[in-house]
Amino acid sequence: MDAKANNTDTNAGADAGSAAVGRRSLLGGAAALGLGSVALGATAQAAGAPSRARPEGGGRFQGKSVLVTGGTSGIGRAAAKAFAREGAHVGFCGRRAELGRQVEREIRDAGGEATYLQADVRVDAQVRGFVDRVASRYGGIDVAFNNAGIGGGKLPHEMSVEEWDDIQATNARGVFLSVKYEIPHMLRAQRGVIICTSSSAAEQARPNGAAYTASKRAVQGLVKSAALAYGTRGIRINALLPGTTDTPFVRPPGIPDADWLRYKQAWGPLNVDGLERMADAEEIARAVLGLASDDFPYMTGASVTVDGGSTAGRKMVQPNTT
Ligand SMILES: NC(=O)c1ccc[n+]([C@@H]2O[C@H](COP(=O)([O-])OP(=O)(O)OC[C@H]3O[C@@H](n4cnc5c(N)ncnc54)[C@H](OP(=O)(O)O)[C@@H]3O)[C@@H](O)[C@H]2O)c1
Repeated sequence: MDAKANNTDTNAGADAGSAAVGRRSLLGGAAALGLGSVALGATAQAAGAPSRARPEGGGRFQGKSVLVTGGTSGIGRAAAKAFAREGAHVGFCGRRAELGRQVEREIRDAGGEATYLQADVRVDAQVRGFVDRVASRYGGIDVAFNNAGIGGGKLPHEMSVEEWDDIQATNARGVFLSVKYEIPHMLRAQRGVIICTSSSAAEQARPNGAAYTASKRAVQGLVKSAALAYGTRGIRINALLPGTTDTPFVRPPGIPDADWLRYKQAWGPLNVDGLERMADAEEIARAVLGLASDDFPYMTGASVTVDGGSTAGRKMVQPNTT
């Protein structure tokens, strides 16, 4: 099995991510959202929405309103669940409604509060509808995790203009649209925390990673600029740079569990010694919650790498002299 196709989030220059791009159908306009009746910009609490009262004790995010893009799978799904476990009211999106409803059900069955809303981060009206509806349901937005993203590794001369545009539209424009519509809610409250998913590939380029690395560098640039713009208004914004993480993003579709396990176990030769393994989504989610918590009031405009040290430096490989 060769999992090292051409995903740009793998040290080996693999490409399971591009397969994922093709797997997913594109949604059309705002109608596909099921948000047609949402009054954009509405901030009044919807009938039946949970109370915003913040009980003492419980988790770090008790009663807080948390928004997650790309919560139907992988890192976003793990983060949505972790926020809910710590008491947050979580509004999350993704295009795949069946998966979204499943994650929502799992969170509620575990005693948490979550709402799935179908939205495509490439579509202006859908992002606006999603953000405003989360704010309306949960009484504002305390934390936003702008995480939706796709891979796609190809050499520039082999990549179509449409493929390039789709990666930028999802990874860079999607984060811009999310921030654009989240900020007004946070400005009203004069507080808020935003975390945007970039990638260790933003720091460590691969030959087939031009489109992906460019998109994830764009996220870092946006984050730094926004940190400067909104610091006096109580809003912190940071970029998270995960290393290769065991999610459907890197796992080739249809690969048997045993083969994937073998591949995973051999993962990470470029990580620091002792951490030669893939991350799991839950440990990346823990970093997200840490950044979103009140533990880092002094941190904004930062690029936080959680990658097993793969970008720390070039590991020496001893030549075999025997
Ligand atoms: N896994 C890694 O090795 C790794 C490493 C570094 C960075 N990252 C980044 O981490 C983020 C999450 O990736 P993951 O590993 O968790 O991958 P994943 O399991 O494939 O999840 C990606 C999520 O993004 C959503 N998404 C993609 N395109 C979207 C769109 N147009 N509109 C709305 N949602 C969309 C997907 O939902 P739908 O398909 O339902 O729309 C899904 O929920 C991405 O930004 C990725 O670039 C991943």
